[in-house]
Amino acid sequence: MKKVEFKRAGLTVSNICLGTMMYGTQVPEKDAFEQLDIFLDLGGNFIDTSNNYAHWWPGASGDESETLLGKWLSEKKCRDKVVIATKVGFDRHGEGAGLSAKQIEYWCDESLRKLKTDYIDLYYAHTDDMNTPIEETMEAFDRLVKKGKVRSIGASNFYTWRMCEAKHVAANRSLADYTVNQACYTYLPAKGGYVPRHEFNLDAGTERLRYLAQNDIPLVPYSCLAKGGYDDLSRLPVQYETGKRLDTLLYYAKELGLSPSALVIAWLIAQDRLPDRPLTVPLFSSSRTEHLKENFLMSDYILDDEILKNLTYAKN
Ligand SMILES: NC(=O)c1ccc[n+]([C@@H]2O[C@H](COP(=O)([O-])OP(=O)(O)OC[C@H]3O[C@@H](n4cnc5c(N)ncnc54)[C@H](OP(=O)(O)O)[C@@H]3O)[C@@H](O)[C@H]2O)c1
Repeated sequence: MKKVEFKRAGLTVSNICLGTMMYGTQVPEKDAFEQLDIFLDLGGNFIDTSNNYAHWWPGASGDESETLLGKWLSEKKCRDKVVIATKVGFDRHGEGAGLSAKQIEYWCDESLRKLKTDYIDLYYAHTDDMNTPIEETMEAFDRLVKKGKVRSIGASNFYTWRMCEAKHVAANRSLADYTVNQACYTYLPAKGGYVPRHEFNLDAGTERLRYLAQNDIPLVPYSCLAKGGYDDLSRLPVQYETGKRLDTLLYYAKELGLSPSALVIAWLIAQDRLPDRPLTVPLFSSSRTEHLKENFLMSDYILDDEILKNLTYAKN
């Protein structure tokens, strides 16, 4: 599996990130361990979790994913071989919301405990908190970096202008800065006028992509397989346009003998070959190991230049 450099974060990661949101809830431990083993064996190292996955699952607390990963890491004894990204800031059963210093410090220690490790490679602000001064948030993250509990920080579900503000605060005070962006992003654009349930769920648009590219901030797009909607259109979330752009994807998938999901992964990996597009590391998950095996193979796939352009600039 190919590796890429997150230079500003000082991390070397596989060009594919494995999502573990449903580990320990929808995906039972045996299957999750199998998926993790396969990923590691193939050379994958970039694993995504959060302090609140998956608290919305019936009967779940939100500790399930991190706890399962901690068990796997200690049984497998492979902490030094993987890059663990986790997050803070979302509500979990009425606790944990926000990016105050208190929340960040408390949940970092909780994540370290559950993951059975003494450092987090990439610690994301899971969502913005406009009620806490940015200075307080950035100083809290910086203290974690200085203590060695966190190697780098990232921002997820942030407006671009808020990333800029955080960047200025960090630069003025010589603090750690967000070096990676995790955002909802896939091949299909959201319908014009679509209002998402959470405002931050808006897809990263061209303005965002350009900002990231120019500031050397990699994009880790989540829900990049549109929840399985490319291979089963009945699962496509309502916000996505289903016009000629989708037809173009389906046409090339058939031509190349790939599943549409696999082609989306190849397209995302190839983004930084285009002007004004950031280094992009797709983040996805599956409850079915055969789907994941197919997806992992896309790490080394080189998408033809012409097809890359035709897919990228296909109109609806
Ligand atoms: N930062 C955030 O706010 C945020 C939000 C959401 C998610 N995330 C992260 O992103 C990860 C993935 O997100 P997601 O689950 O929302 O979206 P996703 O990866 O776009 O969609 C997952 C679905 O795609 C299907 N799939 C995967 N490979 C496939 C293939 N080759 N063929 C057909 N279907 C395929 C899977 O269905 P099957 O199960 O049937 O295979 C799975 O249910 C999460 O685990 C989490 O780590 C972050």
